[in-house]
Amino acid sequence: MANDFRLGGDLPLNRIGFGAMRLPTDSFFGPARDPGTGRAVLRRAVELGVDHIDTAAFYTSGDSTVRANTLIREALHPYPAGLVVATKVGPARTPDGGLAATTDPTVLRPMVEENLETLGVDRLDLVYLRIGGILPPPHDESVAERFEVLAALREEGLIRHLGLSNVHAGHLAEARTIAPVAAVQNHFHAAKRDDTEVLAACEDAGIAYVPFFPLGGGLSDLTGDRLVKVAERHGATVRQIALAWLLASSPVALAIPGTGSLAHLEENTAAGSIALTPGDLSDLS
Ligand SMILES: NC(=O)c1ccc[n+]([C@@H]2O[C@H](COP(=O)([O-])OP(=O)(O)OC[C@H]3O[C@@H](n4cnc5c(N)ncnc54)[C@H](OP(=O)(O)O)[C@@H]3O)[C@@H](O)[C@H]2O)c1
Repeated sequence: MANDFRLGGDLPLNRIGFGAMRLPTDSFFGPARDPGTGRAVLRRAVELGVDHIDTAAFYTSGDSTVRANTLIREALHPYPAGLVVATKVGPARTPDGGLAATTDPTVLRPMVEENLETLGVDRLDLVYLRIGGILPPPHDESVAERFEVLAALREEGLIRHLGLSNVHAGHLAEARTIAPVAAVQNHFHAAKRDDTEVLAACEDAGIAYVPFFPLGGGLSDLTGDRLVKVAERHGATVRQIALAWLLASSPVALAIPGTGSLAHLEENTAAGSIALTPGDLSDLS
């Protein structure tokens, strides 16, 4: 894989990365997966050239016995040169062990400190401010106070680059008046392509667009006829074509497919070498 994207203008990245949310469990706070397999997936990802791992301190199994950040540190620390570990803060733990959106800016510093500690680093490469619930929050919900906290932590040297997740274009514009935004992480994939305004803003500004659920998150059907037809043409799987489509959809798009399976990791990473033709893209449009 060629590391041909520059995150924040200075960190070279391959366009196929890895999402760590599925390592502790395959569902949200579901039964724990085997931590040994999780560590093996992480090590194999790096062997395959993955240099961008997306995580969060709140990516855990339902019983909290398996945690993505712990697996990453155990498997990969001391981290190889050039590996970018991105994390996100914002959602807060509820008393029943779930997660809920909060607009309280005071929760952010402890969350950043938790990520520093659990990942075992002095500075985080990329921290997203994740806002809203399942859907982005209303357009008129200001991100200013929260983004100012993260911008101050960046000035302090605890964070290299800042990102935003689950946002509308107005949130992105507001945040950019406070500090540079290096990446946006929104819901987007081959079967959900309606985030055009944010994607266009990212393209204009050279901001990485790093969709969550690049494979539909296991919730959306990625087996449509168009994907199947192009997959057959390439001798590839529909998920590989969905990832190749994502990368072809914009020069600033980066993929972070999530898996706890070695076989799926190999399959997803290999999608980085599929070159879709104009005919393929027309069939997929
Ligand atoms: N910012 C946010 O709000 C937010 C929200 C969700 C996720 N994320 C981030 O985005 C990353 C990607 O999203 P995601 O993991 O939720 O969803 P995803 O990558 O769209 O899909 C993951 C699901 O697909 C399965 N899968 C993966 N590769 C496969 C393959 N080759 N063949 C068949 N099934 C396959 C996985 O199961 P197996 O594990 O069994 O392979 C898992 O159930 C996450 O890991 C996380 O880092 C961010």
